[in-house]
Amino acid sequence: MDRYLVFGHPVRHSKSPFIHTLFARQTQQELEYGLAEPAVDEFAQALRTFFEQGGKGCNVTVPFKEQAFTLVDHLSPRAKRAGAVNTIKLTDDGVLLGDNTDGAGLVADLKSHGVTLADSRILLLGAGGAARGALAPLLAELPSELVIANRTHAKAQQLAAEFCDLGHVTAQTYEQLAGSFDLVINSTSASLQGELPPLAPALIHTDIAIYDMMYGASDTAFISWAKQHGARQTMDGLGMLVEQAAEAFTVWRGIRPGTKQVLRELKRNLGVI
Ligand code: ATR
Repeated sequence: MDRYLVFGHPVRHSKSPFIHTLFARQTQQELEYGLAEPAVDEFAQALRTFFEQGGKGCNVTVPFKEQAFTLVDHLSPRAKRAGAVNTIKLTDDGVLLGDNTDGAGLVADLKSHGVTLADSRILLLGAGGAARGALAPLLAELPSELVIANRTHAKAQQLAAEFCDLGHVTAQTYEQLAGSFDLVINSTSASLQGELPPLAPALIHTDIAIYDMMYGASDTAFISWAKQHGARQTMDGLGMLVEQAAEAFTVWRGIRPGTKQVLRELKRNLGVI
């Protein structure tokens, strides 16, 4: 049976085996999908061994995405732009192809929630790996402006300079932010510590769409905060997780699974509904 897995550390709580097993059942593909948690300095060896032993493809998650970028034979254009690899496929010619489906997953999830990206004014919070992965797919939707704000302003400036060939993208400090945004995407890891990015409440209005790439059984700190200040449309990163997985599954198997039912089952599994 064709073997796939996700590399991460820690990875025990990954939802990827659950999601890909449902995709396989739905599309009647024969495959198994497991977990691997190598020590941080043993990832390269573990990856090599997996493919030597017949593995067909894998996902890569924190903290290995940047290292995976350096270990594959070929990079897709979107992986090159992201500077990170979350999906690897062994081709029929024995080539390890590195791809990144995170940004495509974000955009697909935003669209499935009915969010319009074309001509919109987008605020992206954070300038780490998650922000970098999202930039090219977001800019491909032709927003009127994309502003990056980050605690460490120099990192936002660096990202804006790197992606300015793809659209109107600028960096502003949290204090500089002004005017009306249509969509705020939180790519910071602040919610992990129950913290909030230092965003002025005045930027939140009833027609704004709020997206937090994090998720949990209950609202993230950022989503609770945005709701308190009047945001009516809030979305967490669970849909992005399922959509990036669907994109990876399509890369591996050449068949696109449906995501709605799987997302529902995942929510039930997490106790969200
Ligand atoms: P990831 O790969 O998930 O993006 P990362 O590269 O460690 O993770 O980046 C984390 C991002 O969250 C950074 O933009 C970080 O801001 P700094 O560049 O200033 O470190 C941001 N972040 C983390 N905790 C934060 C907090 N409490 N408030 C604001 N931003 C925070």
